[in-house]
Amino acid sequence: MDRRPLGRTGERISVIGMGTYALGNSTGDKRRGEIVALQRGIELGMTFIDTAEVYGHGRSETLVGEAIAQSRESVFLATKVAPEHFGYDDVIQSCEASIQRLRVKFVDLYQLHWPNQRIPIRETMKAMEELVATGKTRYIGVSNFSVEQTMQAQESLPRSELVSNQVRYSLTSRSIEADILPFCEREKLTVIAYSPLDTGSIPASRIPKEITEKYEMTPAQIMLNWVTYPEPVVTIPKAGQISHIEENAAAVNTRLSRIDYQTLSKRFE
Ligand SMILES: NC(=O)c1ccc[n+]([C@@H]2O[C@H](COP(=O)([O-])OP(=O)(O)OC[C@H]3O[C@@H](n4cnc5c(N)ncnc54)[C@H](OP(=O)(O)O)[C@@H]3O)[C@@H](O)[C@H]2O)c1
Repeated sequence: MDRRPLGRTGERISVIGMGTYALGNSTGDKRRGEIVALQRGIELGMTFIDTAEVYGHGRSETLVGEAIAQSRESVFLATKVAPEHFGYDDVIQSCEASIQRLRVKFVDLYQLHWPNQRIPIRETMKAMEELVATGKTRYIGVSNFSVEQTMQAQESLPRSELVSNQVRYSLTSRSIEADILPFCEREKLTVIAYSPLDTGSIPASRIPKEITEKYEMTPAQIMLNWVTYPEPVVTIPKAGQISHIEENAAAVNTRLSRIDYQTLSKRFE
């Protein structure tokens, strides 16, 4: 599995990671299957795992904690704090609660899930820097931030660097190409593309057969290959089924040619 730089940190994370939205809500065999699927993904090199305190009211974090119990050192673990917890004390408490559910000593990346205009970003970022200082998180990121909000976030971090912005990006959701993507490229921020498979509604019939046949890839694999074509992008498809995990892990074994990348880009413009 290829790895890409995380911001300017010198750290490299897997270009295909694993999202975990809606995991952990089931019980019994289905839940065990989700744990095994995540473990298989780690084995195949998708060692970047993304979760959030709001996913299933903490159940996703609890499930991830179980899945990584034997492999914490090889995983790059990211979670997110919800906007209603952006007050100073709430950020600290949320991070500590996430760490407990994940059964780890620290997370690697702590992200602001969505902007919150009602709480000054300086207050939130002061707490984020405190979490870095106390070793609760290694890096700070944002999610769903515009260019302007990202700049404000960075300016509110006197002691740290912002490393990433997690945003929706796929063949069918392209709005970040106008500003966020070029901005992140310039500023050396990692773009973490969420919903890269358009939440599962993969437009298979619109992906030319010549391309799937040429690369011997499925439409989902072509979507993951396409979304990670730009250098600053890594992505976090969610898959609860092991067959999907294995497919996703093999999505960047070969790379789309520039011409095929451009053909797909135009077709979905
Ligand atoms: N920051 C944010 O605001 C935000 C918002 C949304 C999502 N996210 C993050 O991004 C992650 C991914 O986004 P998402 O869950 O919205 O959507 P997604 O990854 O685009 O799509 C997930 C769906 O695609 C299916 N799938 C996965 N691999 C497949 C394959 N190879 N072939 C066919 N179908 C496949 C999954 O099915 P199975 O589960 O049945 O395998 C699931 O139904 C989330 O889990 C979350 O971590 C972040």
